[in-house]
Amino acid sequence: MSRERRFPEGFLWGCATAVHQVEGNNHNCDWSEFEQSGGILTGDSADPSCDHYRRFREDFRMLQRLHNNAHRFSIEWSRVEPAEGEFDRAQIEHYREVLTELKACGMLAMVTLHHFSSPLWFTHRGGWMASGAPEAWLAFVRKVAGELGDLVGMWCTLNEPNIYAYQGWITGEFPPGRRGDVVGLYRVLANMRDGHERAYRELKRITPGVPVGLAQNKWLLFPANRWNPLDQVLAGFSQFGLDRWPVGRSGPRRVVEATSDFVGLNHYRGSLVSALGRHCNSWWLAQTDFGWAVQPEWLRTCLEELAPLGKPVYVTESGMATKDDSKRVQFLEDVLGQVWQAIEHGVDVRGYLHWTSMDNFEWAHGYSMRFGLIEVDLETQKRTVKPSGELFRRIAKANALPAS
Ligand code: FCB
Repeated sequence: MSRERRFPEGFLWGCATAVHQVEGNNHNCDWSEFEQSGGILTGDSADPSCDHYRRFREDFRMLQRLHNNAHRFSIEWSRVEPAEGEFDRAQIEHYREVLTELKACGMLAMVTLHHFSSPLWFTHRGGWMASGAPEAWLAFVRKVAGELGDLVGMWCTLNEPNIYAYQGWITGEFPPGRRGDVVGLYRVLANMRDGHERAYRELKRITPGVPVGLAQNKWLLFPANRWNPLDQVLAGFSQFGLDRWPVGRSGPRRVVEATSDFVGLNHYRGSLVSALGRHCNSWWLAQTDFGWAVQPEWLRTCLEELAPLGKPVYVTESGMATKDDSKRVQFLEDVLGQVWQAIEHGVDVRGYLHWTSMDNFEWAHGYSMRFGLIEVDLETQKRTVKPSGELFRRIAKANALPAS
C-alpha cells in the first residue's frame, strides 16, 4: 500500500537565485562588461531584468505564499565594494532591508558570497586568476559578515568553482571569455579553494553560530564506451565536481572534510564522454531546452555518494530549463521523490532549493532559458505563478509528497 512520503521536520523548502540574474541595473561588474562587448550567445543583456532590486518585497511575499521557508541568494560584491577598499553604505543598507524582509516572511537566508559576478576593479587586476585574488575577496567577505551576519541563516562562500572556471577559461562562454586556458583554469581553482578555506575560518570567527559551506556543481559523466579505459578516465572527472578539489598544495582532497559545515549540491545534468571525440549528449534521455540530459535518479545518485562524508546536505540548486511547464511539474514530482528516497536510505538531506523562483537572465543564454516556478513579463513586470509553482506550494505546505 502506498503511503504519504513525509520529509523530516524543519526541512528547508525554497528557491535559489543569483543577483546578476534577477536584480537589474548591475553595471559595475564583469558580466555587464561581457554583455556590452557582445559576449552573450543570444545577444541579450541582463537589462531589462526582473527588477528584483526594487521589487524584492513583492517577490518575497509571493514566495511566502508558495510556502517557501528558505531562500538562497547572493549579495553583489560590485555594489557593496564599488572600488577596492571602498564600501558603499547605502548598498549595505539595501541588503540589510532584503535580509530583514526575508526574516519577516519567515524565510531562512542562505547567502552566497560569490555567484559568478565580480567587480570591474577586481577583474581588471586579473580576477580570480591573479595572485592576491583571495585576499581581495576576503575584505568583502569580512565586511558583509560584520555588517549583515546577524540576519544570515547560512553562508555559501562560492558558487560552483568548477563551472565558473571551466566556462570562463576553457569554453569562453563566461567572462573573461578565455578558451582552452588550462593554466588559467588551474589558477582560478587554486585561488578559489584558498579563498573558500580562508573565508570559512573568517566567517566562523565573525559569525560562529552560522553554518558555512559552498555550492558545488556535480555534473555526472559516464563513459560513452565502457570498454575504453580513456573514456573511463574522462568520466572520472565528475568526481572533481563536488567533494574534491582537483588542485592546491595538498593535491586532490575532500574540501568538505575540514572546511565546510554542510555540503551544498547543485545538480542538473549528465553526459556521455568519449576520448574518440564523440561528445554525445545522450539523446536517449530526457532533454531540456538547454539540451542537457536529465534523469531524476541522478540527483539521488549524487546525494548517496555524499552520505559517507557525514555532513548535512542541502540541494542548493536543482531544476530544468523548459518552456513547457508540464515537464517541470513532472520533473519536480520525480526529483523530489528521489530526494525522499535518499533520505529514507539514510542521507542527511536537510533542504531543497529549486533553481529558480522567477524566469531570469540565464548567463550566456540570456532570456532564452526558463527555469522559474514563476513567469515574469519583462515589459510589464507582471509575475504569474506557473502550475509547477502551485505544486511546489502544496508539497512545501504539507512537507510531504502525495502517496505514490
Ligand atoms: C548553475 C548556476 C545558476 C544557473 C543554473 C541554471 O550552474 O549556478 O546561476 O544559471 O546553473
